[in-house]
Amino acid sequence: MWSGFPLFPEQASTMAGRVDALYIALLCLAAFFSVLIACLVVGFAIRYRRQSPDEIGTPIHGNLTLEAVWTFVPLCIVVVVFLWSAEIFFSMNRIPPQAMEIYVVGKRWMWKAQHLSGQREINELHVPVGVPVKLTLTSEDVIHSFYVPAFRIKKDAVPGRYATMWFQATKPGRYHLFCAEYCGTKHSGMIGWVEVMEPAAFQSWLTGGGSGSLAAEGGKIFQSLGCMTCHRADSQGRGPRLEGLFGRTVNLASGEQVVADADYVRESIVTPAARVVSGYQPIMPTYQGLVSEEGLMQLIAYIQSLQEPTAAGAPMAVAPDHLAAPKGGTRKP
Ligand code: CUA
Repeated sequence: MWSGFPLFPEQASTMAGRVDALYIALLCLAAFFSVLIACLVVGFAIRYRRQSPDEIGTPIHGNLTLEAVWTFVPLCIVVVVFLWSAEIFFSMNRIPPQAMEIYVVGKRWMWKAQHLSGQREINELHVPVGVPVKLTLTSEDVIHSFYVPAFRIKKDAVPGRYATMWFQATKPGRYHLFCAEYCGTKHSGMIGWVEVMEPAAFQSWLTGGGSGSLAAEGGKIFQSLGCMTCHRADSQGRGPRLEGLFGRTVNLASGEQVVADADYVRESIVTPAARVVSGYQPIMPTYQGLVSEEGLMQLIAYIQSLQEPTAAGAPMAVAPDHLAAPKGGTRKP
């Protein structure tokens, strides 16, 4: 409805219309009360002005009904605004489980994206239309912020941790990507494009690159760092087995529990002693500085791809579901 209105960016995601509706409602609410209060100030000033020099106003001792009304009405309004915003906030932050995963690293002054299939790009992000896309974001140096106005989404990329965000593009096209956190001299040049493609075109783009999949690249790093000497599938290893680990709840030596998500796996590589798995010694050295942020993401994709060994024998590295080709049309989150 507002797409032709020049003050608003194009609406190109499932979230855009909802965010705009809330924003416009807040704007109207603020405008309504501003006008109302301004009119009352002027109106009352005229109506109740002193008309003779010796006139004294009637003392007021309060009015319970009036006070109840001006407490209750604003309360109702803010509760409605809260519920409405919370609903949007939660759907922005609840990532659909079938979302396609892409890893993004911010770096002064560029955005580097890696697809699970191994495709990499800089200052560009190719995504299919009508498919929920999950971005796992981090930064190599300072805080950046991934902002796509047409999608009405923005998330900080903070060094040393992962942030996740998702969107579902609703129409093919090229949309601006900005860094929305001041990050140094060329902050204003840290821009790019999100290219939303038809699913079929996206598939052919995706298979265009020659490199191995993200998990396969991670497997190479895993080999080269000698991780398998301790993390052995036969459970004789000095470190926990990694097959089927991703997404599972892990018991820690401290008695706590943690879900083995991307953040936990990353932490276990860079600061292994922080949260040690119950039954193991904190003997793993840190790999901080030995693996780049992109390498860490590849390792995580590799660990995510490790499944429980089948009854027949060796563990299989299989591609996660979301690697599968999106079948045309619209998938609802
Ligand atoms: Cu990166 Cu501003």
